[in-house]
Amino acid sequence: MAHFGTGHTGMVVLRQLLQRDDLELVGHLVHSPDKVGKDSGVLAGGDPVGVTATDDFGAFCALDADCVTYLATDFGRPIDEVIDQMCLLLAAGKNIVTTTFVRLVYAPSLDPETLEKLQSACTTGQSSFFGTGVSPGFTVDALPTYCASLCAAPGQVRVAERILQGTYEDPLSFAALGFGRVPDGDLTNIPADHWAPHFAGTMAMLADGFGWQLDEVLGYQDLALADRDYESAAGSIRQGTVGSVRLRFEGWVDGEPRLLLSWIYTMPDDLRDGWAPPLPRESAARRFTHITIDADPEIAVTVELTGGELPGVTATASRAVNAIPAVCRAAPTVHTALDLVITPA
Ligand SMILES: NC(=O)c1ccc[n+]([C@@H]2O[C@H](COP(=O)([O-])OP(=O)(O)OC[C@H]3O[C@@H](n4cnc5c(N)ncnc54)[C@H](OP(=O)(O)O)[C@@H]3O)[C@@H](O)[C@H]2O)c1
Repeated sequence: MAHFGTGHTGMVVLRQLLQRDDLELVGHLVHSPDKVGKDSGVLAGGDPVGVTATDDFGAFCALDADCVTYLATDFGRPIDEVIDQMCLLLAAGKNIVTTTFVRLVYAPSLDPETLEKLQSACTTGQSSFFGTGVSPGFTVDALPTYCASLCAAPGQVRVAERILQGTYEDPLSFAALGFGRVPDGDLTNIPADHWAPHFAGTMAMLADGFGWQLDEVLGYQDLALADRDYESAAGSIRQGTVGSVRLRFEGWVDGEPRLLLSWIYTMPDDLRDGWAPPLPRESAARRFTHITIDADPEIAVTVELTGGELPGVTATASRAVNAIPAVCRAAPTVHTALDLVITPA
């Protein structure tokens, strides 16, 4: 294994790689200058493991590794730079598992040229590519599609998530979601154009999984205001500024909204925004997903992630690490959650 990117999620991936008996770390690429030259085990908070973090991409690419876990962020980077790096690794014979650039949870949703670049790099290197995550990448797209394999004639699919952000220390996502901002207009039904590309992979995976042709995707953003002042490591929220954000997407098929998806991000955790799913009174969980599929039979699934402050980060990292054996065994091409079965072993 060779690993790239030790931020919030990437560091958890690195720790899991070092813990697994069936995987051996042989290389570690970093972007942060202060990590270069350090032992990967020490960077992960443990004992030295004899692998030194490097910022030399050429040397990393030349390593004798079966698979690269690519967790370097795409935020603030030209997306072509990310894709080109991935293609160089694939062409050099490395399989890739990645959570970077959420659109890659369903690579067929990419523009045809970019998809072709990835596919041809897989062919050159006889390697496989798999993008994943928790949401997008599992709870909101792959899981509803798997669940619907139990029913006939699915009609409408509704997925609603609530993600507690109170302990999330990332100032970038705080700013991107607009927490602590004074709204300058409406609080509801604000066009969410900015976020539509973020969830395009999810919509495309669902549509393909259900065999539906999407006519259009409509996106909205709703805001709820904080009822008190709130301080967090990510930033300050004053009473009356944005404390909860809901993103909603409707996928229209044959003139009907068949795919209804929503994500609620709250900071503080217990802000009363009145949106579903509500925060259960007695729950230690920090992420809630409610899936409903109108079909025969009708299906309702609730997923709650509990454990630590950020179980979603651990779940994302685990899904990536658990995918490694399947990706290494898979036929050399670009894979998705619709064709690759991931198990914990
Ligand atoms: N779909 C999902 O459910 C899901 C969930 C979580 C994360 N993600 C995605 O997975 C990726 C990793 O997540 P994360 O939480 O670890 O992100 P993060 O904390 O923002 O990761 C930042 C790391 O990326 C590397 N990096 C920073 N700037 C770079 C640049 N210009 N070029 C190359 N590398 C650079 C650095 O690694 P070093 O410190 O090692 O230098 C940095 O620590 C992100 O793209 C994120 O959006 C998806």
